[in-house]
Amino acid sequence: MTQSTAIPDAPFSQPTDALDSFAPRLLDWFAENGRHDLPWQQHHTDTPNPYIVWLSEVMLQQTQVTTVLPYFARFMDTFPTVQDLAAAEWDLVAEHWAGLGYYARARNLHKGAKQLVAVIEETGEFPQTLAGWEAISGVGPSTAGAIMALGLHKYGVICDGNVKRVLTRWAAIEGDITKSATTKTLWALAERLTPTENSGLFAQAMMDMGATLCTRSKPACLLCPLQADCLAHAEGRETDYPVKAKKQPKPSKFSDALLIENENGEILWLQRPDNGIWGGLWSLPLQFVEKVDCKVNGKAAVKKSDKSDDKSSNMTSDVRSNEKIYETEFTTAEQIINEWLIKNELVTESVRNTLLDDAPIKHSLTHFHWYLTPRKLTVDTSQMLELNEKLAAAAIDFKWLTEQTAQDSLGLPRAMEKVIER
Ligand code: ADE
Ligand code: SF4
Repeated sequence: MTQSTAIPDAPFSQPTDALDSFAPRLLDWFAENGRHDLPWQQHHTDTPNPYIVWLSEVMLQQTQVTTVLPYFARFMDTFPTVQDLAAAEWDLVAEHWAGLGYYARARNLHKGAKQLVAVIEETGEFPQTLAGWEAISGVGPSTAGAIMALGLHKYGVICDGNVKRVLTRWAAIEGDITKSATTKTLWALAERLTPTENSGLFAQAMMDMGATLCTRSKPACLLCPLQADCLAHAEGRETDYPVKAKKQPKPSKFSDALLIENENGEILWLQRPDNGIWGGLWSLPLQFVEKVDCKVNGKAAVKKSDKSDDKSSNMTSDVRSNEKIYETEFTTAEQIINEWLIKNELVTESVRNTLLDDAPIKHSLTHFHWYLTPRKLTVDTSQMLELNEKLAAAAIDFKWLTEQTAQDSLGLPRAMEKVIER
């Protein structure tokens, strides 16, 4: 290794010649060994299509290329232009997305398509600046950089998870990549390395490096064009990077959100007491589901409590602490409803969501993750009147409103919007 004698190019830990030769080495490697046949790639054409790049980048944000390929093909088939996507019914978009996961991305995609159409109607073209793309729902700084470079053939810098892994290794950046100081260092380095010409090829080459060579657990350093001056490789510490602090796992709570519907298609809404979560806001009645949250190999797993003495090694909460939550967080109204349901032997039914799975709606609050499962029950008028009487006797504020009216006229917590949007 020769870098001990070379002077680093402040503020970077690598010397100037290593920084300057990074892009040419990477581009040579890419020309020979990169992926050139991905269906969304636009580097073979002089008239790139930003719609294709935007769509594929959003799909690729948390999902691997092989998974995305068939989804991308179906999207392009059904929605060949951004106008087609913007004009589509949400259900059709959801159906095309089902199975790709992280479905907030699908909502952002649909919303983003409408925003893009509005920009096009106003200016005659797709956004042409980084800021213009960052203003689109679901487009962060790295996706915006990718679209600038790959989708418009303008200058753009990417710094996504793959790039961060390559750069922390190559420059031995020890900082926690979840910290903003480290993010800043990495962006500065990515900008320093990205060539003014060909930033699109460079971006694609970095993605390919990260995905095929400098992989998370088994980097193929012997084939790597950066090997000669890679600081992590020099120390045999490749997999020590990137440094990422373990997040304290949040506890999980599980509730059923009850859609109690009357004969007019209206549902029961309760105003939450002023103290406690969502004080003063309107909510569906919630029912606590007694489950035990455990950690299995670092992954959250849900274990239905059977009240037996099942104390597997690293549970984060036990049945008793959940009972405490039950006592302190159930509102009077919810207890009344619960007792009324039990007394009348009324059973709620599960509700399928539009994404064709029965996964509960996850809502993360500061101190816990809340998994809400919508469940439905239809009551007849006499049942409704009986329930009204019980709630009124306890001075509970409640309303029977359709989902739409509730959304338009009540202050609903975000989690409730998620439940009724489901
Ligand atoms: N990951 C994110 N964007 C990508 C792209 N354009 N090609 C391959 N992998 C990617
Ligand atoms: Fe990654 Fe190894 Fe290349 Fe370093 S030498 S950038 S660790 S593949």
